[in-house]
Amino acid sequence: MSRKIADKLKNAENIPPLPEVVHEILSITSKEDFSIKELKKAIEKDPLLVAKILKVANSFMYNPYGREITSIDRAIMQLGTKNLVPVVIGLSIAGMSDLAGKRFNKEIFWKHSYTCGHIAKRLAKRFNLPEAEAFTAGILHDIGKLILYIFFPEDYERALKLSEEKNLPSTEAEKLVFEIDHTEVGKLVLQQWKLPNLIIDVVTHHHEPSKARNKELAALVNISNILTRITGMYYNRDTLGVVLTDSEGWRILTKGAAEEEVEELVFSVFDDAEDAAHFAEIAWSK
Ligand SMILES: [Fe+2]
Ligand SMILES: [Fe+2]
Repeated sequence: MSRKIADKLKNAENIPPLPEVVHEILSITSKEDFSIKELKKAIEKDPLLVAKILKVANSFMYNPYGREITSIDRAIMQLGTKNLVPVVIGLSIAGMSDLAGKRFNKEIFWKHSYTCGHIAKRLAKRFNLPEAEAFTAGILHDIGKLILYIFFPEDYERALKLSEEKNLPSTEAEKLVFEIDHTEVGKLVLQQWKLPNLIIDVVTHHHEPSKARNKELAALVNISNILTRITGMYYNRDTLGVVLTDSEGWRILTKGAAEEEVEELVFSVFDDAEDAAHFAEIAWSK
């Protein structure tokens, strides 16, 4: 099976493309000096994206006082240029999930990905790691699941069932069915999309952060994923046995910290996670 999947994914035409505007925004924001005008010009090429960005910028997360934003440059400022890439990638992924067919639970996939991104962003600030990259990697961490589902819906259903019945982690159930898991598929997809190596590394290792080149950021997405699960934003509601402080990511991030410090952190990260999950819920229902 894995040969078949790898062959399919190696052919770039098979993978749904990331909209050109994402690459444009990535290249603009990667420069040291860029202007809102440049971003505006890139985004305005896609009227549908303009409408979506305005909607996000007017949501309570980015616009808590509710002063209506009607222009794209104001929207960019309201979101913050740091959040623009992850927001646009998130919108593209949400659109892509339509390709997975009716049985795919788009809502939970989106909520899981978005909550994870938001938690990662908030924690990045706390742990002094790059926020925009954490947000982007958090949103993209399970992209391999979506792609597997788009190509092999029945087999993926089988993997989901297996994971539930035998209480297996998703990566193991996927390996039994596909001989490859969503982290490896994610890597292939992000390579095809030519996303930055940092993002590819973190997404590839979000279940085993000690193997990443960027261990701390991978550890951050690892615990964000766990927290996302604990808040209930997961493919199944079973969170029994999921313990944040047992995770590899938590060990990497709290190495050398005093016990009281760790305890305090646990409480604050749970708060962040609840907020992020709450936002995902509201954003989806609007
Ligand atoms: Fe995952
Ligand atoms: Fe996940």
